[in-house]
Amino acid sequence: DQNSLLFYVNGKRVEDQNVDPRTTLATYLRENLKLTGTKIGCNEGGCGACTIMVSDLDPATDEIRHYSVNACLTPVCSVFGKAVITVEGIGSVAKKRLHPIQERLSVAHGSQCGYCTPGFVMAMYALLRNKPKPNMEDVDEAIQ
Ligand code: FES
Repeated sequence: DQNSLLFYVNGKRVEDQNVDPRTTLATYLRENLKLTGTKIGCNEGGCGACTIMVSDLDPATDEIRHYSVNACLTPVCSVFGKAVITVEGIGSVAKKRLHPIQERLSVAHGSQCGYCTPGFVMAMYALLRNKPKPNMEDVDEAIQ
């Protein structure tokens, strides 16, 4: 019905009739869907620990576009009809194999305490979905 929120998370349809419009995507993922791989650090758009990927259709070109998003700044209702990928959706030690980005980060000791690592992973994942062979400038911009 027209009062319900509908979107996709890691390929699964999520429908919810009872969403407080003040809820952020980060809180919704963690508390409603129990996807706690998305971390909340600063909760104000500064640290990137909450980064996830959103995909939608570009209305101008009808092409699918992917972008990394700070889930702590994103009202969950704004992803209506869109597809969200969280770190759980790309790989894990427990359920499936690590994604190559996760594997390289691990092998190269590319995290410190690890709290923001899912955010780094998702920023890199979104970059590679858009541009499989990025140059250094692309990487720099994506991480920023
Ligand atoms: Fe820091 Fe979202 S929690 S940017």
